Amino acid sequence: MTGLNALAKSTAPSATMLAAATATDHPDPINMAVGEPAEPAPPFLVEAAKAALDQGETRYSQAAGIAELREALAQDQERNDGCPRPPQEVLVTAGAKPALMDALRVLLEPGDEVLIPAPFWPTFLDQALWAGGVPKVVPPGEDGIVSVSTLEQAAGDRTRVLILNSPVNPSGRVLGAELMGEIAAWATARGLWILADQAYLHLAFDPPAPTLLSAAPQAREKTVVVESFSKRFAMAGLRLGAALGPAPIIAAMESLVTASSTHPSTLSQHAGLAALRHGDVWVEEQRDIHRRRRDKVLETLDGIPGVEPGNPEAALYVFPEVEELLEMRGFPDDATFCAALLAEEGVRIVPGSAFGQSGYLRLSYGLEDSRLEEALTRLAGFAERSREVRPG
Ligand SMILES: Cc1ncc(COP(=O)(O)O)c(C=O)c1O
Repeated sequence: MTGLNALAKSTAPSATMLAAATATDHPDPINMAVGEPAEPAPPFLVEAAKAALDQGETRYSQAAGIAELREALAQDQERNDGCPRPPQEVLVTAGAKPALMDALRVLLEPGDEVLIPAPFWPTFLDQALWAGGVPKVVPPGEDGIVSVSTLEQAAGDRTRVLILNSPVNPSGRVLGAELMGEIAAWATARGLWILADQAYLHLAFDPPAPTLLSAAPQAREKTVVVESFSKRFAMAGLRLGAALGPAPIIAAMESLVTASSTHPSTLSQHAGLAALRHGDVWVEEQRDIHRRRRDKVLETLDGIPGVEPGNPEAALYVFPEVEELLEMRGFPDDATFCAALLAEEGVRIVPGSAFGQSGYLRLSYGLEDSRLEEALTRLAGFAERSREVRPG
């Protein structure tokens, strides 16, 4: 299209959003493509948003977020990594996405490279581009996760930032403390910034999951921790997250939001405050629900020949390897499999290639039990049937 600048021309809609939006004629489609818990946000959080409205909390707050929430976020993060933080090191954002985006915008010079380990959440690539940087995908190491040697091979003179996401979307893997420590030591020795995306931290099945800074507190001066309320408290639509990092970076990000979004909705901020104060038990109960659903998905996948279910240790995704299934069933690639599954069975999933790892599928189990059951029955039936009708 004419009129767009070069950046806008070079970017495209996110692959997961596209997968979620593909039309289907199926009379009863089921969406296993979007990463959101099935359950609604807990009532105490909704009540807090309503109460804030009733109490006239409709004015601007500080750009960096309301003071109590910044403090609660600092304390919450201290529980994860043992690092105390003053409020100047906390910025409340409208979700993890703007926290990541704005961190990149204040850190990157045009053309700087951003290391993104595969498999990755595709938005990381888009964000690096929108921030004027160059995304550099790092292939996984031997056991399917990032390693210092793959990072070292990918890094160059222009590398400035590493995005480290654990638990990982799409694989649900949790990076161990030792690995995180090694990566942090490598990155800081190279003078890199680390964006530690912890969007799924509280959905890890064996809490407390290690965080980058619990493993490597010495990396603190070069790390921006990114938090999200979306999955943890099932409040994705309320748009709330945070960036926690060195005061000068947070101040620069605050300047940026002052010139753009100003701050997230005050109602969402009050909901988030209630979530941090009263949400632990609810989060724990949710974790059990997620675990049960994960086990159900793994059990189904285990029964399908040619599928390696994998070992997801956190919600909300299972990321099976299906090379053999594709070959056995005559599908040229994962995307074709997903398109046929959608057309024939109305089940929407995302091909691994969208996350930089072809031959895999990402299944989100943020579905109520009966819908999940139905989706899995259709998926298993499709995999079996396709063997009979497709040329090998
Ligand atoms: C790894 C990762 N980070 C961040 C986000 C976005 O979170 P938010 O809704 O807080 O912007 C997602 C959403 O899917 C994600 O998968």
